[in-house]
Amino acid sequence: MQIPSELKERLTSSKKILALTGAGISAESGVPTFRGKEGLWKEFRAEELATPQAFSRDPHLVWEWYLWRMDLISTKSPNSAHYSLAELEKKKSDFFLITQNVDGLHARSGSKKIIEIHGNIFRTKCTGCKKTFSSQIEELKVSFKCKECASLLRPDVLWFGETYNSELLNESIHLAEEAEIALVIGTSGAVGIPVELARIAKSNGALLIEINLEKSAYSSLSDYFFPGKAGEILPELVSYFS
Ligand code: APR
Repeated sequence: MQIPSELKERLTSSKKILALTGAGISAESGVPTFRGKEGLWKEFRAEELATPQAFSRDPHLVWEWYLWRMDLISTKSPNSAHYSLAELEKKKSDFFLITQNVDGLHARSGSKKIIEIHGNIFRTKCTGCKKTFSSQIEELKVSFKCKECASLLRPDVLWFGETYNSELLNESIHLAEEAEIALVIGTSGAVGIPVELARIAKSNGALLIEINLEKSAYSSLSDYFFPGKAGEILPELVSYFS
């Protein structure tokens, strides 16, 4: 991989590093992306199931999909791209990671400074008392009822049409404003707010580096675009940070 010398210099001298990840970073772990051809479950697209309307219409169907995904993710492990970001966090004290992924693989690879801006599939939230719980797949297969108030539990993830958690969003905006380098990895940009975070970073002077198999909605903002697999490119890129 060719890394221009001025980029190597920026990787060494920059302190505040922000990584923004999407489903593509987990693809090499075997977790299907949303918009690839494997993003379908039965005949449904994510946009048809991950909505409050779909859940109120047919909670069993939506839970069936989530339990399928939880089962699948439980059998997968972080890949070299996740591990590289965990290593980068150790190299740079001002590193932070914002992920759109709900799979928990970043935490499992050792990253600690993570904002899961779309939630976590291994947590549930009660639709009645609003308490959150860590999900026990086997228990959920028996009942989706809250242990405390018996209302329906839902996955603690952000669905299409829902508003972002304002605390997490404000923290993310602040990180984007401060970033000197923004790494955008494996995300299509089909969802607006994460693209807006990249735009904020860029307009506040960050250098934007993108890794993706193909061009995305972020690419017009990118200063450097590395085409290819995150698991192959990121370890090398991270080796230049010091
Ligand atoms: N390395 C790098 N990029 C990859 C790889 C890989 N190995 N495999 C796939 N990609 C890229 C694809 O080219 C695509 O641009 O990852 C991106 C995945 O895009 P999406 O499936 O749209 O995932 P994401 O951007 O995370 O979706 C955003 O939409 O469905 C909602 O809330 C959900 O968080 C999700 C959000």
